[in-house]
Amino acid sequence: MNPIPVIMDVDTGIDDAMSLLFAVRHPGIELRAVTCVAGNTGVDQVAANTRYVLDAAGAPDIPVARGSARPMLVPPADASHVHGADGLGGFSRPSDRRMSPLPAVELLRRELMGAVGTGERITLVPSAPLTNIALLLRTHPEVAAGIERIIFMGGSASGGNATAAAEFNIWHDPEAAAIALTAAGDLDIPVTMYGLDVFNDVVVTRDEAAALRSGLDPAAQLAGSLIRFACDIFGQDEATIGDAGTVCAVVDPDGLTTQRFGVRVELGNGFARGQTLVDRRTWTGDHKADPHSTKPTMIDVALAVDGRRYADLWLTTIGG
Ligand code: RIB
Ligand code: CA
Repeated sequence: MNPIPVIMDVDTGIDDAMSLLFAVRHPGIELRAVTCVAGNTGVDQVAANTRYVLDAAGAPDIPVARGSARPMLVPPADASHVHGADGLGGFSRPSDRRMSPLPAVELLRRELMGAVGTGERITLVPSAPLTNIALLLRTHPEVAAGIERIIFMGGSASGGNATAAAEFNIWHDPEAAAIALTAAGDLDIPVTMYGLDVFNDVVVTRDEAAALRSGLDPAAQLAGSLIRFACDIFGQDEATIGDAGTVCAVVDPDGLTTQRFGVRVELGNGFARGQTLVDRRTWTGDHKADPHSTKPTMIDVALAVDGRRYADLWLTTIGG
């Protein structure tokens, strides 16, 4: 089969790094571009981390572009308590890889319109706040013709991590998430939500991480070190590959169980801000009586994942 063309939007990030390493190494993915956004750490650090991870993976000259340095409305709030001060568990190193001269939205537009020109459709894999994606879809709706599907890490049908209600990527920029999902619905772009309902179910053990670190491959060594860092942060003997589950789903969609629901994002300033409200109601009478006029975007919400299947896929891809 021809490799699937993919563009990733990241806030590298321990698990964004695990996702990038997989995307570069798996023969079923052709990574066309990577765009960076503020999230786990500042956007310039995200860009530095991303370029270093691509170096470790031995990636070809894949364009990397800088995107939004902050959410649409509220100030950025990093996740250094999870990803470390540099966003990469202290493993970030300088890279000679150059940044694209284009801002993220323009790089995305050019790559996606290029795909339209060649009759291709690119799978967009955001694993970060959706600020860049919201700006892209509302500024250049024409790119929809070049998008096969958006598979994003974010949201949850069952409680949050950044807050009791909201998952970090959505909580960081709820307005962007609402805009991106509404625009995707308006533009009929298929969307898969890889949220907290599956995020923590694909885990790798300390021993498996040690095996990765024991080799001479810089990508495997980095991956093993990141898993060990995550185990130490959470005081566990195993750690999730997090964002990397999205790219596993690109090459092995049968490992994921999804169901189609209407999804809205809570934008109020209360305890539920940033919650993804997954509408599980099935009776049309409820929907007809619903006082909320805004039509939710219909999204394929991941409800279950074969964790061992994706963990083994990730380990064999990174471990060689
Ligand atoms: O909630 C988990 C998400 O927030 C992941 O994408 C992680 O990298 C952080 O960005
Ligand atoms: Ca991320």
